[in-house]
Amino acid sequence: MTPLNIPEWQSLVRHYSDLKFLSMREQFALDSDRVHNFSLKSGDLLLDYSKNRITKETVEKLLALAESVDIPDWIERMFSGEAINNTEGRAVLHTALRNRSNAPVMVDGEDVMLAVNAVLSQMKNFCHQVHSGEWLGYSGKKITDIVNIGIGGSDLGPAMICDALEPYGIEGLSVHFVSNVDGTDLSTTLENLNQETTLFVVASKTFTTQETLTNAQSARTWFLKTAKQADVAKHFVAVSTNAQAVTEFGIDTANMFEIWDWVGGRYSLWSAIGLPIALYVGMDNFERLLDGGHEMDNHFRNQPLSENMPVIMGLLGVWYINFFGAQTHAIVPYDHSLARFPSHMQQLDMESNGKVTNREGHRISYRTGPVIWGTPGTNGQHAYFQLIHQGTQLIPVDFVLPVNSHYPECDHQSILLANGLAQSEALMKGKNAEEVRIELAAEGYEGKALEALLPHKVFPGNRPSNTLIVPKLTPEMLGQLVALYEHKVFVQGVIWNINSFDQWGVELGKQLAKAILPDLQDGVEISAHDSSTTNLIKLIRSLRD
Ligand code: F6P
Repeated sequence: MTPLNIPEWQSLVRHYSDLKFLSMREQFALDSDRVHNFSLKSGDLLLDYSKNRITKETVEKLLALAESVDIPDWIERMFSGEAINNTEGRAVLHTALRNRSNAPVMVDGEDVMLAVNAVLSQMKNFCHQVHSGEWLGYSGKKITDIVNIGIGGSDLGPAMICDALEPYGIEGLSVHFVSNVDGTDLSTTLENLNQETTLFVVASKTFTTQETLTNAQSARTWFLKTAKQADVAKHFVAVSTNAQAVTEFGIDTANMFEIWDWVGGRYSLWSAIGLPIALYVGMDNFERLLDGGHEMDNHFRNQPLSENMPVIMGLLGVWYINFFGAQTHAIVPYDHSLARFPSHMQQLDMESNGKVTNREGHRISYRTGPVIWGTPGTNGQHAYFQLIHQGTQLIPVDFVLPVNSHYPECDHQSILLANGLAQSEALMKGKNAEEVRIELAAEGYEGKALEALLPHKVFPGNRPSNTLIVPKLTPEMLGQLVALYEHKVFVQGVIWNINSFDQWGVELGKQLAKAILPDLQDGVEISAHDSSTTNLIKLIRSLRD
């Protein structure tokens, strides 16, 4: 099935050609109610999507497209545990991990909530032991440092949440994340830590990931510099689906927290992959995060499409990607503690929807997932915003604005918020030649000097953005926010008829790295590669110390 042939898609093609020059500025002038017509709430989270190149008719047509591809049906199929990850034959149930209603969710005739709740209890118990000092290091000292060793979904989500919830951190406990197989990452993390008080969480869904296992082995070697083999049990725990590989690595399965194949890596922070979060901010706050995710799940499952935040955001993305030809999408949080939010969103979106093959295995001829990028405002304003304002590409932006800071320093927060709002206003309004002329004249410019400078100071405007207003970055709000984007990605995957839950595209590089690794050793005959790779291998060999 290709969406291109759906009448609702065709109708959007025609609508686009009528509307591609629509001026948002004019629309705001014409309709004093525009902001109310194009705003939505889910709990305390507000989405203002009025600064988009849309009319009511656009939204109606996008919603008709969503209906035509059976979005409501797909939502139910996901929540009810159907194996919608068709290439791996798996259910997709990150929603069960935060199913605070505890209503049964059946997979292969079994209610997965029993296992979910059992692991949550195990996590709670373990966190209590570590926090209370019942769980001590090998020399009888309390644990002071948690080091999570994982990569991709076993790193990005938990690292982002720990940063964001730093104000909730338990006193006396620090958390560190090691992901890169570059020895710099592990070494610089361990250099200030003490073996006696460090607890490693080896997080790998598959427990076969080369980077993670290499880092975990080196961490164990570092640990054994002062400790004995028998002490490993007090300092290494694992999160995985793969009990056999965990045992082979030398971690007792009593110290293993289970996850399941129906939890995708990039959707796994809600599972025991979130253990470093629970250790760092406490199980109560981890559960508050789950509550927030669940609240967004209820919104997504129950709200009509027209009031449904992930659906609206997903459709707006499709509007820009497939009709305006946008290739990238910026996510800009105006909160320093969300510094890693764009990176997590990058994996979430690009690993899910970076696909060129549809669910039936056919190559597709339309655009799918965009490049996701961003950094916290206001830093981005002094780096790449020039291109968003005056560059030749259309780049939709999501502004994420938490209103109240955990660190209310004088007027910092007001300045931060003013900047965020100013950016979205500037992108929408722009500044036309007439306005620039008046401004330059007021500054004393005239004649040729004025005319020469004028075109450089024109802002085309009409550049779209969404604004998400978050009252304060609490665990619940953060949970809602992450779940919102997870569902947005799913909605887009359904429209594009792709499976958002596999990631075959990361396999080839892994395979080739395994083949190249032995070739890097001196004296070994280099296996067959293209001439560029062979040459680079030879050069690297010659340059190695
Ligand atoms: O990069 C591919 C990937 O499989 C991600 O999807 C996953 O989050 C990451 O590697 C880590 O995998 P694992 O948790 O199995 O070590």
